[in-house]
Amino acid sequence: MIHERYAKITGWGKYVPEHVLTNQDLSQMVDTSDEWITTRTGIKERRIRGEHDTASSMSVAASEQALEVAGITAKDLDLIIVATSSPDYLLPSVASQVQDMLGAECGAFSLVAGCSGWVYALTTASQFIFSGMYNRILVVGVEIISFAVDFTDRTTCVLFGDAAAATVIEASDEPGGVLSYELGSDGAGAMYMYVPDGGSTSPLAQKTIDERRQYIRMDGQNVFKFAVRTLSGSFKRSIYQAGLTPDDIDLFIPHQANARIIEAAARHMRVPIDKVYMNLERYGNTSAASVPLAMVEAIEEGRLKDGDLVAMCAIGAGMTWASVVVQMGTSEISAAHSLFSMARARHLARRTSDAVVDTAQSALLPLYTFLYQRRKKK
Ligand code: ACO
Repeated sequence: MIHERYAKITGWGKYVPEHVLTNQDLSQMVDTSDEWITTRTGIKERRIRGEHDTASSMSVAASEQALEVAGITAKDLDLIIVATSSPDYLLPSVASQVQDMLGAECGAFSLVAGCSGWVYALTTASQFIFSGMYNRILVVGVEIISFAVDFTDRTTCVLFGDAAAATVIEASDEPGGVLSYELGSDGAGAMYMYVPDGGSTSPLAQKTIDERRQYIRMDGQNVFKFAVRTLSGSFKRSIYQAGLTPDDIDLFIPHQANARIIEAAARHMRVPIDKVYMNLERYGNTSAASVPLAMVEAIEEGRLKDGDLVAMCAIGAGMTWASVVVQMGTSEISAAHSLFSMARARHLARRTSDAVVDTAQSALLPLYTFLYQRRKKK
């Protein structure tokens, strides 16, 4: 892809709840064992939200770090996109709560694409930057997936965990940042992973609770096959689209669902496993937070540096998938973009004219009142 503007990841942050739920803990709750979970999934422990953790509070904690790393404030943001399937409420959008809690003055919307949500949101944010519309966008992936997990169902409860990760995407005129991407959906696989009740088709009812239909149902083996096939295919398509080959990629960050899925996908792509990042043993599958959380930790551990090429790919309920190739690097936005973009100029003009009208109205109010009272007396 050729752009005049580039979309770079300039800030990152994470929030994981304090409470750790180990495989040992789960073996006290359902008929499972550390040995079964470790060999079938690679997961050792996951985080579960505390009493005060909400999707909005966790997003804000991660976002504050991301803003600090980017060296900007919430007031500098032009847009906020939050990817989640577990918002605080069905309405309003959690993105608006995050906007308010951060003190940002910009548009905000949430996006649902299951575990692929953050990659979908990153590519969406890139479009606003490529078009010249916006310069600074906050992209969050957050999930309190434990609320939709049935902790009496051993086939699903061992897999998931809660987390949030946030990134700041900024415009730049230096090549790099988001180089290519692929978004995909195959709704024919909707029933591979779904929550039966609680939507408009089957609103919550006593039957829901009695039959535990408010929780995730999953066809594990079909998800497994879909995941292996799709991860390796989508990774490769995005990489080739960027004019690269898998050998050029410094680090692969796949969706952190299951180590066996990841190892099988790496084998299909003929990529050595030491080029593939995994942190699922500590967090399990954190859905929309999975890929950005892994990216943040890869940066913190020094496995991703300026100039590195990273390929990220997620698959999720839907079924959806999304992959992206990014060249890391945090170069400054040039003055041409930060000060004189048309979008920013329009925004500034609108704010200035609003301020002038407000001031004029308050200044003229006593005069209007005086004239009105004089007319009434006559
Ligand atoms: N502990 C012990 N035994 C278990 C457990 C458990 N936690 N879960 C299932 N079993 C049992 C099953 O009941 C079955 O027993 P049976 O043979 O007596 O019937 C046996 O283990 C084998 O079950 P399988 O489903 O064949 O196990 P499999 O090797 O396929 O592993 C798993 C199951 C881990 C769920 C795997 O299919 C998987 O990872 N699938 C992908 C799911 C996934 O990642 N979903 C979430 C992500 S979705 C997304 O991100 C899009």
